[in-house]
Amino acid sequence: MLSKEQNELLTRVGKGTPMGETMRRYWHPIATSDELPHPDCDPLRAKLLGETFVVFRDTEGKVGVMDELCLHRGASMALGRVEDGGIRCLYHGWKFDVTGKLMETPNHADPRVRERLRAKAYPVREQSGLIWTYIGPKEHEPPFRHFAYDKVPESNRVLFKLVVKANYLQMWEGGTDSSHVGILHSNVTRPGWLADSGAAPEINDMVSAAWDDTSPQLEIENTGFGFHYVGMRAAANPEQRNIRLVPLFMPTGRIIEFPDFYTTVFDTPLDDETTASYLVDASDVRQLDLNERLKRSGLVEERFYKNTEFVANWDTRFNQDRESMREKRSWSGFHGITQEDAVISTSMGPIYDRSTEHLVAADAAIVRLRQRLFDSVQRFQDGLPPIGVELGDLTHMRGFDLDIGKQETWRPHAAHHVEHYPAKD
Ligand code: FES
Ligand SMILES: [Fe+2]
Repeated sequence: MLSKEQNELLTRVGKGTPMGETMRRYWHPIATSDELPHPDCDPLRAKLLGETFVVFRDTEGKVGVMDELCLHRGASMALGRVEDGGIRCLYHGWKFDVTGKLMETPNHADPRVRERLRAKAYPVREQSGLIWTYIGPKEHEPPFRHFAYDKVPESNRVLFKLVVKANYLQMWEGGTDSSHVGILHSNVTRPGWLADSGAAPEINDMVSAAWDDTSPQLEIENTGFGFHYVGMRAAANPEQRNIRLVPLFMPTGRIIEFPDFYTTVFDTPLDDETTASYLVDASDVRQLDLNERLKRSGLVEERFYKNTEFVANWDTRFNQDRESMREKRSWSGFHGITQEDAVISTSMGPIYDRSTEHLVAADAAIVRLRQRLFDSVQRFQDGLPPIGVELGDLTHMRGFDLDIGKQETWRPHAAHHVEHYPAKD
């Protein structure tokens, strides 16, 4: 449980708020490359941490991120014309390049104004299908980050963006929460439920005996990037137990292991009440297909997912299929992991008030997540770098899902994190 003040501190991300300023010390994704598919495509009006930006691709293919409103008299640049080497405001035609340099001012012949003024433009990197930006103070720009998914061939990687009407922490806590996986996602994961109900598994390769153990034991350890936890469950073989490690990295990330691919998720706050989750799947062993992934996630129908937005809401009771629940064909009345997760986060309201919750031992990783966020804000307020901000090479960060002997410990399997990202506190 958190006090109302603590809840406010963790959930508010606008400019000038403690969490908002801490988050501004990191790079964040602001769009996918697919949203800016070619040099003369439409500019985007994109939110990040409560601020609005124009994101555009110039005629040479370079991406620019600038404050949304024109430097001259405030028209939205997102309505502007993408022209040779820059973007031009519709109102009086001022034209800027991706660095914010003022190239032309058709209503003002004197060139001095072009030398004196500059639009606020932000550093941009485009990598593995994501467009990243850094909107914090220039002098604190941290190293740009690389992840394990950057190292797989392009054909072994797919990604998509899901915008949900819920605060980022609801989404991130959901991703941190091990004990819901064998319950909310029963149709995908839990053999016991499937056998009792007679339902066909929605995804065969996720069904695992370990998910029948719905009360995992958790062990948690701080790391340089945030922390990781291990969920320990009974395995099918009574001589073994299942261990599943999940890395949680500041300021909004996690990695989830599946049988032959892994998903790196960034639950990026657009504003206090809206989150863009970027999900990047990568496989070391096989090619991946985006349509197959969207189907697995329950995001192929427009009544759930349209133009990157999760659109199901209370107006239609989230399109829940109660009949399938009564007939025991479905646990949740929903289909697909991501669909189920998005519904749950949205159902809590835009910003959940954690002063009314009742935590149990199974929520230990969520408590640690909040603690690491508080620590990060505290470090920022003490004039120190927030947790993990100095880490550019995150390519060694990975989870696992293994069955090991009952007497064995999980620690040797997590040695890669201890070696590359030792905890500093
Ligand atoms: S408001 Fe943009 S050029 Fe005048
Ligand atoms: Fe989930």
